[in-house]
Amino acid sequence: MDDLEDYAEQQHQLDANNPLIVKKEITDQTDFESETDPYFAFVPTYLDGGNGIDNGVKELMTNILGEYIAYKDNRKLCLGVIGSGNRNFNEQYCLTARRYASDYGFEMIDDYELRGNSTDCKRIYENMAGRI
Ligand SMILES: Cc1cc2nc3c(=O)[nH]c(=O)nc-3n(C[C@H](O)[C@H](O)[C@H](O)COP(=O)(O)O)c2cc1C
Repeated sequence: MDDLEDYAEQQHQLDANNPLIVKKEITDQTDFESETDPYFAFVPTYLDGGNGIDNGVKELMTNILGEYIAYKDNRKLCLGVIGSGNRNFNEQYCLTARRYASDYGFEMIDDYELRGNSTDCKRIYENMAGRI
């Protein structure tokens, strides 16, 4: 995410039409509020038990983001979710992002593995910029 903010800053300096990206982290300390501007959600998948396919799903750490998106009308302003995960999890790869997309009614627009790399950063930025 920090790399994405830096990349957006560079692109914005090259051409002011390129959007900046401002990060807002949702944690257990976050006061819930109604979002007023369109946004993208980034969510990794950390599961503790349940494969999400035939025996449910238990999220670690990310529940709070799901609750924030579900708060009042916040889901309506979400332009899409970007998932991260590890392909070693096979069918569970980026499952939380895929669940949020289907539960809250927006698209999963991209994904990346682990911490992502510069190719992911550029592709995701262009993908987001094209949807603003
Ligand atoms: C306990 C645990 C459970 C995980 N479960 C999944 C999973 O179900 N699906 C998936 O795609 N990645 C899973 N991952 C991989 C993480 O999503 C991946 O490590 C993360 O996207 C990279 O971010 P990080 O550097 O903050 O760990 C899991 C990782 C941990 C530690």
